[in-house]
Amino acid sequence: MSRRLHRQTYAEVDLLKLERNFRALRGLSPAGGFCCPMVKANAYGHGDVEVAARLELSGARHIGVGLVEEGVRLREAGVKAPLLLFGAFEGPSLEAVLANALTPVIGDWDGLALLEKSASGDAFKLHLKFNTGMNRLGFGVDQAPRLRAWLDARPRFRLEGVATHLLRGEDAGFDDGDSRGQLERFEEALAAFRGLEFFPHALNSSAAVAMHAREGRLRYGMRPGLALYGITPASREAPKLGFEPVLSFRSRVVATRRLRPGEKVSYDGLWTAKRPSLVGVVPVGYADGFQRLFSNTGEVLCRGRRARVAGAVCMDYFMVDLTDVEAATGEVGNGEEIALIGEQSGAEIGAVELARWASTIPYEVLTRLSERVPRHYVR
Ligand SMILES: Cc1ncc(COP(=O)(O)O)c(C=O)c1O
Repeated sequence: MSRRLHRQTYAEVDLLKLERNFRALRGLSPAGGFCCPMVKANAYGHGDVEVAARLELSGARHIGVGLVEEGVRLREAGVKAPLLLFGAFEGPSLEAVLANALTPVIGDWDGLALLEKSASGDAFKLHLKFNTGMNRLGFGVDQAPRLRAWLDARPRFRLEGVATHLLRGEDAGFDDGDSRGQLERFEEALAAFRGLEFFPHALNSSAAVAMHAREGRLRYGMRPGLALYGITPASREAPKLGFEPVLSFRSRVVATRRLRPGEKVSYDGLWTAKRPSLVGVVPVGYADGFQRLFSNTGEVLCRGRRARVAGAVCMDYFMVDLTDVEAATGEVGNGEEIALIGEQSGAEIGAVELARWASTIPYEVLTRLSERVPRHYVR
């Protein structure tokens, strides 16, 4: 039986929009250019199996995951496309990496030593990652010549890609900022692999958008996440592309209360009616990923109008002040649709705005959408 029958709250994931965003991103680089859409963290909350399957159908030649578990899940669901594993893994996981044909992105000598131990003598593809300033994962650039020698001595290991990650992608292509130095160091690393055929890749969504806006081309392969899901990344130059938000988050009013001035709402009484008010109860809470930080601050859409969260967000519910919506449009009751993210009657609330209310970034808003919110797919 469909979960939809039990819960009126759901996230709608529009795979047609995902596909359009993917094609627009891929179109930024020349045909055959490296484009590895990132589906880690459950495809930024969108559902990794469905997203990866759609990307595969749309011609993705690589797909990026963070965890071994994520790669295994996609393989078990039938995804055949090459999967790049960006996360580090330990010895006991090697078997799963090999059995599921995950292509590791290796960032330290321990990782290489582990691969060498793999019993089979078959050809093996890998990517190398360099730390050029993010100081997270990756070899030091000074290791590049040693790595080249390591590869030359072990012909069964084929270098398919060389990667780095920018700490502030939005300044890629600019003369000032952090990316320039990082990309110069990346070039130093790349020089050690001259003569080999591989993909150099460095650009996340904001870097791809910035470099393309600035230079009209991409000098490196890309690994887009945020823009794939339709969030226009932070950018110093207006991006030439319009990305379409893929996910919307909706629910319905399950109860209404008419309050007299002075009456309070929710835990700790953080909200008090200042006038005769209509408050709607929405069955979405912080356990669904609608953060408690939205208490008294966040807004939702009802009949295409903005309405503010009234009082503390609870685990399973929050309340919303519908007084103005009712005054403008007529009586509001149970069953009224509430849009938490997405469009409604020409109005829109985006993940970027939710992030602002909680002093965070849209990545966190999307990845926090919990498992108990059913995803409905538009195919
Ligand atoms: C190594 C790596 N590449 C690419 C991305 C995608 O970044 P974005 O979502 O900003 O496009 C991420 C995301 O965190 C990442 O860790």
